[in-house]
Amino acid sequence: MKILDGKQIAGEIRAELRARAEAFESKYGKKAGLAVLLIGDDPASAIYVRNKTRDCEEAGIRSFSYTLPADATQEEAEALIDELAADENVHGILVQLPLPAHLREDRLLAHIPYEKDVDGFSAYNIGSLALGSPAAVACTPKGVMRLLARYGISVSGKRAVVIGRSKIVGRPMAMLLLNADATVTVCHSKTKGLAEICREADILVAAVGKANFVTAEMVKEGAVVIDVGINRVDGKLCGDVDLASVKEKASFLTPVPGGIGPMTVAMLLENTLEAAERQMS
Ligand code: GUN
Repeated sequence: MKILDGKQIAGEIRAELRARAEAFESKYGKKAGLAVLLIGDDPASAIYVRNKTRDCEEAGIRSFSYTLPADATQEEAEALIDELAADENVHGILVQLPLPAHLREDRLLAHIPYEKDVDGFSAYNIGSLALGSPAAVACTPKGVMRLLARYGISVSGKRAVVIGRSKIVGRPMAMLLLNADATVTVCHSKTKGLAEICREADILVAAVGKANFVTAEMVKEGAVVIDVGINRVDGKLCGDVDLASVKEKASFLTPVPGGIGPMTVAMLLENTLEAAERQMS
């Protein structure tokens, strides 16, 4: 079994993006800018947001950090997004999810113009992805595809199984794999015969959010196993895959931490630069 080292590849990509960010700055006389909005006090979200702003600065992208309290109203949040949408120094807007329960996520995200939607969550960007045409693509699934590509793992003609159907990972992941000519099955909480379906996968993507969910009996000999889960067990980070048993069967495996997580942030930086370049050209 080989480890797919997302941390190392993400570091290489960030170095490439730094050069691209410098080129942007010297061409346009200002930095590419990303606004990150955190609403409420979810501790995991606070850590993700801090990492995103830190990595932006390191890559030569200007970051604008905003926090609203957990009881912020829909109108307050929308007004802030409208302001950022009109700001010429802000090329990308990211609203960290999940939102506090009283806020309407769909309505809030609709205030992000699709040109600044660096998460690829807008209806326009998801529609473009579904049609197979280039668009801003959600960072985590984009990071999965990039990691596979960097390791020379081909997707075309392969059987791919995605466990999870979220807007952030499962759905865009399935569409990207389909666009790359895989035969794709999406499994979820109501799927019957999950283990049997997973055992057919040449490429198995776990995006469930449950520690040790994927066990060796769900994995075909020689499969590529991508672990998108970030779970905390006894204070320790772990993914959705039961590493101890699955490592005996998989040909390639992504670790947690150090696998897909760093790739997600690298793709966010890339999406921001691409958005900035499109807006300036
Ligand atoms: N929460 C967990 N992952 C993500 C992500 O990729 N983007 C946003 N906006 N929120 C998230």
